[in-house]
Amino acid sequence: MRLLIIGVGALGGVIGARLLARGVPVAFAARDASSAAALVSAGLQVTGVGEEVATGVSEVRALAGWSRAAFDLVVLATKADDALAVASHGVELLAPGGALLPIQNGAVAQVLARRHPGVILGGLSNLGATMLAPGRYQQRNAGHILIGELAGGVTERAARMASFLGTGIETRTTPNMSGAIWSKLLLNCTVTTLGAVAGTTMRGYIASPEGRALFDRTYDETLAVASASGVRPERMLVDPIPPADRDAWIEQILSAYGDLQPSMHQDFERRRPTEIEFINGYVARQGVELGVPAPLNAAIADTVRAISRGEMTPSLENLRRILRG
Ligand SMILES: NC(=O)c1ccc[n+]([C@@H]2O[C@H](COP(=O)([O-])OP(=O)(O)OC[C@H]3O[C@@H](n4cnc5c(N)ncnc54)[C@H](OP(=O)(O)O)[C@@H]3O)[C@@H](O)[C@H]2O)c1
Repeated sequence: MRLLIIGVGALGGVIGARLLARGVPVAFAARDASSAAALVSAGLQVTGVGEEVATGVSEVRALAGWSRAAFDLVVLATKADDALAVASHGVELLAPGGALLPIQNGAVAQVLARRHPGVILGGLSNLGATMLAPGRYQQRNAGHILIGELAGGVTERAARMASFLGTGIETRTTPNMSGAIWSKLLLNCTVTTLGAVAGTTMRGYIASPEGRALFDRTYDETLAVASASGVRPERMLVDPIPPADRDAWIEQILSAYGDLQPSMHQDFERRRPTEIEFINGYVARQGVELGVPAPLNAAIADTVRAISRGEMTPSLENLRRILRG
């Protein structure tokens, strides 16, 4: 089995280093030749949760340097915009019967599956990681990679890819991959994006009545779009369908994610593109397509775009303004 990982950042670095450390050959595509050379000289090192590993790495090139259709699995481990930009090249590098596995947050796999039918395997990461420097990665939790067919069921290829990745990193399959992606979207659209827009964590905004109201209404709106699209969100951390009395359910979400700083904060600070078009922006567009209006998701996505353009700043006031409509 030949594996190429495109994007040697936090997730790509941890996954690749752990496989290499188990003796599994891994090829990497870095952004350009100089970042590839830097990785070859630094090697890959993983600290934090789990076994610490340090390994040399030789098969790293800029993506343009890979041209042979020789890979059985190409893992797309860039941010969402870059994933869309490089996916066609990734597909060209697949050997017959190979699969492209996007692991971004949001609906990247669904968007790519429309462009490249048949070769996209759904994926997501419950594993948290940070890149400390090129070649230096910190694993933040004992999470896993989840993969499966977007059309449902567990196929032989999904099981084979999971077993291969599982040599280095915990990898599970699900027969309900689209449901799992939507379950993560439900939390990304609320926990994460609202925290980014408010300039705080979920615990920081949910204590205010407006924060709680916007969380509840955005969650329900997103769930309505998910249901209209025909998926059955899969239980992950909590039951995706909230109970009538939500307080204990919200506490469960808070205990897992309440204090996490949304990575979108860093995107704002570093003036990098956010992944909003694949999170709330995707839900808003799906809502229009399915005739299930999603005005809160649309307003949240607009606010993120305005912050990215430097026209607004993250603050709790943004939540009040979105609620007022
Ligand atoms: N990290 C986590 O804990 C975590 C958890 C769950 C999901 N995710 C999702 O996983 C995805 C990746 O996250 P991440 O944290 O690993 O991001 P990251 O640290 O920014 O890594 C992305 C890497 O891709 C590289 N890249 C960009 N364009 C490229 C190209 N054309 N060719 C080759 N490499 C390219 C980037 O290079 P440059 O540095 O030069 O831009 C960077 O090294 C995101 O969608 C994120 O939402 C992450």
